[in-house]
Amino acid sequence: MMEIRPATDSDSPHFEEAFFADRLARQNSGRGWLLTGWHDAELIGHLYIRVEPPEQPAVRIALPAVPFIQGINVAPPHQGNGHAKTLVTAAERLLHTHGHTKVGIAVPVEHVDAARLFTRLGYREQPHSPISLLTDIWLPTGRRSRPETCFVLIKPLR
Ligand SMILES: CC(C)(COP(=O)(O)OP(=O)(O)OC[C@H]1O[C@@H](n2cnc3c(N)ncnc32)[C@H](O)[C@@H]1OP(=O)(O)O)[C@@H](O)C(=O)NCCC(=O)NCCS
Repeated sequence: MMEIRPATDSDSPHFEEAFFADRLARQNSGRGWLLTGWHDAELIGHLYIRVEPPEQPAVRIALPAVPFIQGINVAPPHQGNGHAKTLVTAAERLLHTHGHTKVGIAVPVEHVDAARLFTRLGYREQPHSPISLLTDIWLPTGRRSRPETCFVLIKPLR
């Protein structure tokens, strides 16, 4: 059983410092949520819901006014147990509660397993997909960007 909740200051030791500081600052100013999944005191998965408009023009065109899920991750020993599905479902419910009618995700084209997972959860490829974008890599020194080609998938929320 996984307990899901937005991150709090005290979760910082579980994350790379620069990533956590960035996401918590965004969450605290209403620009998104860093959702965390726990089993007892162990962090077993997380994702970030970005609500503010994308910085990159290609993403703004492909995901206009659509909040999107970024950086979904389940710890390797816990993969394959439905935790990603549970985290995504919690994110969708949270967005719906806040009045959002759609949610999106950009999945690197080589992550065919992840694309299949989202398709099974009701996400569908958009007309501009795939797109070239810069994705974040978090290092102890801060954020770096890497070009990637991603499928853009959207799901209506009801
Ligand atoms: C992708 C990921 C979040 C899935 O988490 P999970 O808790 O294992 O997912 P669930 O148990 O809810 O669903 C399992 C499905 O995810 C798929 N999947 C995608 N990537 C996977 C991976 N690296 N390992 C295991 N399963 C993966 C499986 O194929 C499975 O689908 P299937 O039943 O059609 O084969 C997890 O594997 C992960 O953190 N991977 C590393 C980071 C990553 O690739 N993130 C996605 C970027 S868009």
